[in-house]
Amino acid sequence: ENEMIAIAIDGPAAAGKSTVAKIVAEKLSCVYIDTGAMYRALTLKAINNQVDLQNEEPLVGLLANTTIKLKQSATGQLVILDTEDVTEAIRSQDVTNNVSYVAMHPEIRREMVARQQALAAHTSVVMDGRDIGTHVLPNAEVKIFLIATVEERAKRRFEENTKKGYNVDLEELKKEIEQRDLIDSQREAAPLIKAENAVEIDTTSLTIEQVADNILSEAYKVLQRS
Ligand code: CDP
Ligand code: CDP
Repeated sequence: ENEMIAIAIDGPAAAGKSTVAKIVAEKLSCVYIDTGAMYRALTLKAINNQVDLQNEEPLVGLLANTTIKLKQSATGQLVILDTEDVTEAIRSQDVTNNVSYVAMHPEIRREMVARQQALAAHTSVVMDGRDIGTHVLPNAEVKIFLIATVEERAKRRFEENTKKGYNVDLEELKKEIEQRDLIDSQREAAPLIKAENAVEIDTTSLTIEQVADNILSEAYKVLQRS
């Protein structure tokens, strides 16, 4: 009989969380849940509705009337905000630069965490974010904390953008990543921090495959134990 497993992957921006989470989920036939996409979707809606991002109350009201669905498709995970496909739109510079302010608010996090826990209640998951091992899935069988130098992370985002044909500045990317990491690490509510029992992997000089294999071997240890 198949045992349920939850794998939590946390870490700073562009450490490779979503890339390896997808690979691991595929290999283990788990559902992949991108929690950052949920905060990004709310941020996009707030910007479009000119809701003040610094003010928690109107944001809480907005979220209460918002559905965010993560839909698996042949081309990867789609993010559906209410009825709209926002998979691409939530990656915009504007959303990226503002999402950490939305994610600071404790009541917003409370609702997001509840939704994320519901998604993981009856199925095996690989979930990535900032507070998965510490708050969302504190009992996850496998907890991973991915890190890499900020130079390497900026370079990865730079290459991603270049491949898509976008013209971006490496120094700007580095600043944006540092700024977001700072806000995420220093906020009061569920800051970005390694869970006590998480396995830390420095991916700076590892390939995607090496990182995925590392995580998979942690998962197999747990699965064999049962
Ligand atoms: O992929 P990238 O590292 O650019 O970011 P993301 O995972 O899409 O997350 C975007 C932002 O959402 C983060 O910088 C955090 O401010 C927030 N976030 C969070 O607070 N908690 C989570 N579990 C996931 C994301
Ligand atoms: O989800 P997170 O923001 O942590 O990172 P990501 O969106 O997965 O982006 C990481 C980028 O670095 C992707 O373009 C990967 O192809 C690349 N990369 C990686 O993820 N892991 C490595 N060990 C090397 C490169």
